[in-house]
Formats: sequence, C-alpha cells, structure tokens
Amino acid sequence: MTTTLPCPPLPVVHTTRHGAILCITVDNPPVNALSTAVRRGLFEAVQRADADDQVAAVLIVGEGANFIAGADIREFGQAPQLPSLPEVCNRIEDCGKPVVTVLRGAALGGGLEVALAAHYRVVLRDAKLGLPEVNLGLLPGAGGTQRAPRIMGVKAAAELMLSGKHLSSKAALAAGLVDHLAEGEDAVQAGLAYVNALLNTKAHVRRSRKRSIDDPAAALAELDLLAAETASKSRGLLSPLKIVECVRAAVESSFDEGLAKERALFLECLDSPQRAGLVHAFFAEREVTKVPEANACSPRPVAKLAVIGGGTMGAGITVAALEAGLPVVMVERDPESIARGQANVEKVFNGQIAKGRLTEEGKASILARYTPSTSYESIADADLVIEAVFEDIEIKKAVFKKLDRVCKPGAVLATNTSYLDIDAIAGAIGRPQDVVGLHFFSPANIMKLLEIVVPAQVSADVVATAFALARKMKKTPVRAGVCDGFIGNRILAVYRQAAEYMLEDGASPYEIDEAVRGFGYPMGPFQMSDLAGGDIGWATRKRRAATRDPRARYVHVADRICERGWFGQKTGRGWYLYPQGARSGQADPEVLAIVDEERRKAGVTPRPFNADEIMRRYMAAMVNEGAKVVEEGIALRPLDVDVTFLCGYGFPRHRGGPMKYADTVGLPIVLADIRNFAEEDPLFWKPAPLLEKLVAEGKDFASLNRTGE
Ligand code: 3HC
Ligand code: NAI
Repeated sequence: MTTTLPCPPLPVVHTTRHGAILCITVDNPPVNALSTAVRRGLFEAVQRADADDQVAAVLIVGEGANFIAGADIREFGQAPQLPSLPEVCNRIEDCGKPVVTVLRGAALGGGLEVALAAHYRVVLRDAKLGLPEVNLGLLPGAGGTQRAPRIMGVKAAAELMLSGKHLSSKAALAAGLVDHLAEGEDAVQAGLAYVNALLNTKAHVRRSRKRSIDDPAAALAELDLLAAETASKSRGLLSPLKIVECVRAAVESSFDEGLAKERALFLECLDSPQRAGLVHAFFAEREVTKVPEANACSPRPVAKLAVIGGGTMGAGITVAALEAGLPVVMVERDPESIARGQANVEKVFNGQIAKGRLTEEGKASILARYTPSTSYESIADADLVIEAVFEDIEIKKAVFKKLDRVCKPGAVLATNTSYLDIDAIAGAIGRPQDVVGLHFFSPANIMKLLEIVVPAQVSADVVATAFALARKMKKTPVRAGVCDGFIGNRILAVYRQAAEYMLEDGASPYEIDEAVRGFGYPMGPFQMSDLAGGDIGWATRKRRAATRDPRARYVHVADRICERGWFGQKTGRGWYLYPQGARSGQADPEVLAIVDEERRKAGVTPRPFNADEIMRRYMAAMVNEGAKVVEEGIALRPLDVDVTFLCGYGFPRHRGGPMKYADTVGLPIVLADIRNFAEEDPLFWKPAPLLEKLVAEGKDFASLNRTGE
C-alpha cells in the first residue's frame, strides 16, 4: 500500500554557496513579501553565515522579478510574530561580514529597509525603490526613517517617505541610495561580481547606523518647512507628520533612540483605523479585477480602437487610449465637430507641454496614432469601439445601428452612457452579445475609475476584454450591473437627495460642504455640482420627473438655481459665486434667500445641524443604497462599492470606502440611525434588507467580501 505524504512547504528562504560567498534568496511569490517565515529564514541564514568560518561575505537577492515588495500586508492586524522586521534588519547590519543586496523590480517598504540595513547595495536597471508605507497609513518601521536620512540626506529621505513615490534605479544611484548600477538581468551574477570585487579590495562591513547626518542645523530647518507643508496638506492623515517626527529624531537623537521612537510611532499607526482603511483600499483595488468572466475566458485582442464623439468624454477617452499606446480613430458628426474634437484632444497635450511634462516631439509621436474622421466606414477594422455621443437613447440607438452595419464581426461595441438602459441599446442591434458599458469618469484621461457595465446578453469574453482594456489603460475597473446610474451615480443620487433634505430642513449648502470636507473629501457635494455643471443634474432630474414616486419628498432649490442659468463655475455662479472666473467660490446670500423661500413654501421651520449629524445622514444614505446595490447584484461585493467611491467620487481613502466605513462604525449603529431618520420620512429612509439581515446575524459587510463564505 502506498501512502501519500503531505508535501513539506517549500522554503521561502534558501541559501547557496558560491565559494566563500553565501547567497541568500528570498523566494516567496508573488512579490517576496516579508512574511513571518521569510523574516525567520533571513534572520537564521544571516546568523548562520556570521558563525560560519567558511563564509567571507553574504549576498541577499529575491527570486523572480522582484527583490522584496515590503512587509506582508496581509499580516497587519494579526498577532505579531517574532522575529520582527526591525530585528531582522538589525541582525543583517550587525553581521560581521560584508552583506550586499541586489535590487531588482520592487524594492519597497520593508524590502528597501532590508537593503538599507545591508552594507552595500547594487541595483539592476528595472528596479523601483521606495518607502511607500505612507500610502498604507504607516511609516517605515524597520529602521527606514533612521537609515535613509543617514544614507541619502535628510530632505531627500523625508520626501521619499512622504510622497510614497518610487525611484528608478538611475535616480536611486544619483540620490546616493545605492552604490552601483549593474547591467544585465541576473541578480546573482551581478551580486557575485560586486561581492568578489569587494573581497578583492578587502572592503569591510559598512553600517549605516554609524553614519552621521551632515549639517544637522540646516537639516532641522528643512524639516521645519516640510512639517509645515505636510500639516497643511495631509487632510487628517496621521502618518505623514509622524514620519517627519521620526526623521527629526534621526537628526537630534542617537540611532537607537531614533529606532525606539520609530517603533513606538509605527505601532500607533499600525493600530489606527486609517491603516485598516488604507490596507482595505489596497486589496480591494486588486480584488475588483477578479470577476467571473475575466477568470473564465480570454479577452479578444484589441489593437485598434475607435471613439465616437469628440466632446468632453470622447476626447478624454481618446487621450487615455493614446497614452496607453493604442491607435484611435475618432468619429464625429461633421467637419466642424471633428475639428473641435481634435482641438479638445490637443488641448490636453498642450497643457502637459506647458507644465513641462511632455515635449512637442512627444506630442507629435502620440498624435501619430490619432486619426480624425467623419465617416463610420473608417472604423470597419476597429477591434473595440467606445461611443460617447449625447446622453439620448434614440441618438445612441442610431449610432449603434450604424456600428452594427460597418464594424467587423467580433468587434466589441461599448457605450459610455452614464444612466441609460444598456440592455435597450444592445437590444436595438443584431449583435447584443458584443455590447458592453464602459463608463469612464471625467476627466477620462485622469480619473482611475472605469465601471464595466454588464448587460444581460453580453458574452463573457467581451466582459473579459473590457477588463483587459482597463488594465492596459491603467484604469481601476469595477463590474456593475445595469440599472439607472449603475453603482456610482445610483448611490450618488440618493446621498445627494439626503443633502437636499438637510438643506431644506435647515443646513446651508456651505455647512454641508464643510462637514463633508471635514470628513476627508476634497470638496462637498454643492462645490462638486458647481464644478461638474449644475445643468447635468438638472437634465437628469427632468428625465426622471415622469417616473418619480409622487409620494417622495422633492426639494426645488437646485431647480430654482438652474432656472436662473446658474450652472456653477462655467457660468460664474451656482451654489457659490465665482467672481472674475475665480476657481474657489464664495457663499452667495442670494442662494441662501432662495433656500429660505423654498423652506417657507414647503412649510419647513429650519433647525440647526452640526457636522456630526450632517455626516451621519449623508453616510447612512450612501451605505443604505450601497447595501441595496450589493443585494441586487448590481455590485458583486461591498468592496466593489468601496472602490467605485474611492476611485471615482473622492471618498477619503483612509476610510476605505463607504462599506468599510460602515463596518468601522458598526452596522447596528448605521441601521439604528436609518430607523431613527425613517420616523420623519419612512419612504426615503427604508432600511436595505441586506443591512437588516447582516445586523440580525451579527455580521458585517467584510463577511461578504471573503470568498468561500
Ligand atoms: N504584502 C502582501 N501581498 C502583496 C504585497 C505585500 N507587501 N505587495 C503586493 N502583494 C500582492 C497583491 O495583493 C497581489 O496579490 P493577488 O495577486 O492575490 O491580488 C500580488 O501581490 C501582485 O500585486 P499587484 O497586483 O499589485 O502587482 P503589480 O505588479 O501591479 O505591483 C507592487 C507590484 C509594485 C509590488 C505592488 O503590489 C505594490 O506596490 N505593493 C505594495 C508595496 C508596499 O506598499 N510595500 C510596503 C509595505 S508596508 C512595510 O513594508 C512596512 C515596513 O516598513 C515595516
Ligand atoms: P458632449 O456634449 O461634450 O459630447 C458629445 C459629442 O458627441 C459632441 O461632440 C457631438 O458632436 C458628438 N455626437 C453627437 N452625435 C453624434 C453622432 N451621431 N456621431 C458622432 N458624434 C456625435 O458630451 P459628453 O459630456 O462628452 O458626454 C458624452 C457621453 O458620456 C454621454 O453619454 C454622457 O452621459 C457620458 N458621460 C459624461 C460624463 C461627463 O462628466 N461629462 C461622465 C461620464 C459619462
């Protein structure tokens, strides 16, 4: 009888001897993150090398395309396991034999800290180095805040940590962060050559903890400036100022005192809800790409794109596609319209040139992929077409009929509609299986979100193609079902309504905007409406008027404002006044008078609202509709709602998205609020059955994000 024994887990750290050099390889796919097993393996391997008389030097490399992408983010929030990463780094630095690291691909966060603790650093061309912990609500917690300033200078190190940006291998060499840029792609070969050269020159260990900070007084003055700038920019984020504090300790205190300070502040950040929100955002943005269709089939090849319409969205989508390297044919109605469409595209690139981000030659080489046209016949060979014409179902159906006639079989036909019924558009042509929604956000060349709207008859490989296109265009795709407004605009309509109710009940638009900014948004809903143009929402309200529930409360203030032609920034006034084209608005007493008048007509006696009450109502409306959207399958999971709002609606990232925020507050509290508000208006504040179910079962939204439950 044969017995099958379980395979022992593959070692995540292994060692090989090359003469007197011990090569330690971190082999923990996909990105060699520093899990407990990796930390243990590294610690023990260095310990053994130090004690082994046959070993003269140590080389640390990563298996595969990356060195080490940092701490294992999945372990955050779990019980800490020894050795800690600071202990591993100290052990590496204390090694009595030269330790060299070779960096390639990602050398980020704790990965870079391992390298900074080593005595020498070699980079390969493709390396990207950074201390991006700030993006996760953290600070470098394994000596990075103390070693980087000693190695590359205080200001450069602080800026690296505060920006979270990656440095290229060349920039890292110029910054003095690494010692040598090696040609070739083989990390072990490059490392062995470097170590042999060190051994030949009898180079010694070189500990960064021993290095001193140049001109501490000047460094402190620079830090004061950075601290002031950081305080004004960080919008409630805690870790940036703590980073500055740690770097200050690197200048003012001993290395060990600085390390102790770093540890204490790192642990504070680790425990904060901001860290939990940002880590949730990190994983959610990756989970959204895992959808049934993309898992089940291969995408259709997309080498040629066509965009119908050269207005705001058509031009933005064209720019995004050109920047992704795709050739684009833009089709407009007539010669004037296509000239305007081309001008819209060129304006974006001219803006980049003015800011020094693009050269004239760069623009010319991008525009070589752009073809303007007024003929649908010119897109017969396009693999994927994105329609971005007026938001009118009849016009869209007419455009799709033309596409059906001219496009090659198998071409993907996408619409950028914001609200219209994509099933109806697909049903109007003979190949509904090829029709999908690609809902970009404005400005389409900048905004990350792309809602991929899945109509009833679409074939799975078309959806997979849409996800592949999103990846190519560096967008964050979220799968959405067909309904009025899909995920984002549907939920927006509801919390906007909650804001209008508060407005009529006594809060001014300026108080509401201030409360929303205080929560962490870059701007409030009334500022946003002024930026986007009040006429867009007005058109939607008019379209919906016929189907609006006659029992539902309706606030007329926004209509009164639009009737006066006050559409926001573009008309010089809206909810705010914008004298002489100013970009930030001033409170408008005439708007307040309109609000008063509407309150009087509605028989409302205004009452005061504080910021807390404003946000409770705003968020309860958002979360309740979010739960309905999940329950109806419009969003696959709560995390898809979170990513929609993080990437498309300015939701403060450190709160993780509305559904994560609701989990943080506690679903019973959110539901109790909704029930409380329902006493005034049971029709609007109808609790989502899913929310009631989760509360009854003692579960949270996160339980629906986990697969296999
Ligand atoms: N820990 C755990 N998993 C990680 C990870 C990490 N540090 N970094 C990436 N992953 C996972 C991703 O979740 C993804 O998993 P999945 O395939 O199951 O979805 C997989 O690795 C591949 O990641 P990407 O899809 O992001 O692949 P890319 O090639 O686009 O990007 C990357 C690679 C640049 C390394 C990017 O993943 C990244 O930026 N990672 C985070 C880096 C980081 O923030 N490091 C600092 C961590 S905090 C720290 O080190 C604290 C220390 O100071 C004590
Ligand atoms: P727009 O009015 O700026 O541009 C529409 C363009 O379509 C015009 O240039 C027009 O000449 C062209 N057009 C009309 N009929 C055409 C036809 N038959 N063939 C070729 N071109 C034709 O409108 P915008 O803002 O770009 O919106 C386009 C679509 O994108 C709409 O469906 C809208 O709902 C959607 N959308 C708009 C967003 C925004 O913020 N503006 C955001 C996301 C989606």
